[in-house]
Amino acid sequence: MTQLTKKTDLEADFLQLARIALSGRTQDVQVILRRAAKRYHQFVPQFADALMTLLHELPSQASPLRRQAEVPLPVDLDSRLHLMRVEAEPVLDHEPVFAPSLEASLRQLVEERRNPHALVRAGLDPSRAALFLGPPGVGKTMAARWLARELKRPLLILDLAAVMSSLLGRTGSNLRHVLEYAKMIDCVLLLDELDAIAKRRDDRGEVGELKRLVTVLIQQIDDWPSSGVLLAATNHPDLLDPAIWRRFDLHVEFPIPNEEAITRFVEGTLTPYFPAAREWSAFLAVAFVGQSFSDIERELSAARRSAALRDAPLEEQFAGLLTNKSIPKTRRIHLATALVDRGLLSQRRARELTGIARDTIRSRTSLKKKVVKRKNGRAEP
Ligand SMILES: Nc1ncnc2c1ncn2[C@@H]1O[C@H](COP(=O)(O)OP(=O)(O)OP(=O)(O)O)[C@@H](O)[C@H]1O
Ligand SMILES: [Mg+2]
Repeated sequence: MTQLTKKTDLEADFLQLARIALSGRTQDVQVILRRAAKRYHQFVPQFADALMTLLHELPSQASPLRRQAEVPLPVDLDSRLHLMRVEAEPVLDHEPVFAPSLEASLRQLVEERRNPHALVRAGLDPSRAALFLGPPGVGKTMAARWLARELKRPLLILDLAAVMSSLLGRTGSNLRHVLEYAKMIDCVLLLDELDAIAKRRDDRGEVGELKRLVTVLIQQIDDWPSSGVLLAATNHPDLLDPAIWRRFDLHVEFPIPNEEAITRFVEGTLTPYFPAAREWSAFLAVAFVGQSFSDIERELSAARRSAALRDAPLEEQFAGLLTNKSIPKTRRIHLATALVDRGLLSQRRARELTGIARDTIRSRTSLKKKVVKRKNGRAEP
C-alpha cells in the first residue's frame, strides 16, 4: 500500500513538474524539486541528495546578473518608472555594528543559504522570510545590503511607501510584478516600509482595494521560494496585519545601540581621519547614547564640518558634545575627569567645554591619583 501510494505520488509529482517545466516557469520547477527532495529523502536518500546538489549548483552557474539582464526590470505602467532599486553588487561604506544576538540571526540566515543540505537532511526548510523590526536609522536596510553582499547576490529594494502613493489598484499588480521578477533571480529582496501596506485589515475607512493588496502580499509571501531571501523592514510592527506578521518565520529586532556598540561604531567611523579615535570613542559614546547610528553619523559629520570651517582641532568639537545638558551632571564630571586624566584635555579646556568647575575636576583627578598611590602601597603626602 505504501509502495502504491509512493508510486502515485511520484507520478503526480512528475506530471506536475512536466506541466510547469513546459510552461517555462523555472522558479516553480525549482520549488517543486526542492519539495520533492525533502519528501523523498526518507525513501531514496541518494536521489534526494543528488537533486539538492543540482538545485544548489545550477542557479549559481548562471550569473544572477546575466539572468537579470535577460528579464526586463518591472516598471509602473503609468509612469514607466522602475518599481524598485537594484544594487547588482552591493557595497557597504563601512562595516555594520550588530548587537550579538542580531548578528547571530543574520549569520544563520547566510549559513542556511550556504549549506541547505544540512537542513534538508534534518527534514527542515530554511527560514523563508525575515522581518526586520526597529526604529529608524539602526541598520535594517544596511543589514539587507550586508546579507546580499555575504551571499554574493544582487539586492532588490521595493519601497512600499513610494509604491503605495500611486493608485491602489495598480499597487497590487506592481507588487505582483516585482515579486514575480524577484523569484526568477537569485537575489535578496527587501520590502522596505512594509507597514505602508501591511496595515491591519480591520482599519476603519480601509477600502476593499487595500484588503486585496494585503491578500496579494500574503499570496506572494506564501509562494516565495525558500532558496530566495525575502526580507521586510518596518518601524511600526504594531501596524502589521497579524496574517502578514505570521508569514515571516524569522523576526529580527534591531535595537537602539548601547554604549559598547556606539564605541565600536564611532571608533570605526573616526579612525580613517582622526588619530585619537580610539581614546575618544568611549567618551563620545556617553554623549550619543540613546541615539540611532544614523543620527550619530550625522553628528560626527557636523562636528567635522564645523571644525574644518573654523580650522579648529576636532577634539574641541567633540569635547563640546560632552557639554550636552541631557547628560547627567555626575556623568559629565566623570567624563571631564577622565579626559583630563588621559591627557586629552587640559583642566581649563575641560572646564570650558564641559561646564564642570576646575576645582571639581582637580579634586577628582587628584583623588584618583591618591587611590592609585594607595593601591601601589605608597605613602600619602
Ligand atoms: N548597525 C549599524 N552599523 C553601522 N552603521 C549603521 C548601522 N545602522 C545604521 N548605520 C548607518 O546609518 C545609515 C542608515 O541606516 P539604515 O538605512 O540601515 O537604517 P534603517 O534601520 O533602515 O532606517 P529606516 O527605518 O529609516 O529605513 C547607514 O547607511 C549607516 O551609515
Ligand atoms: Mg531602511
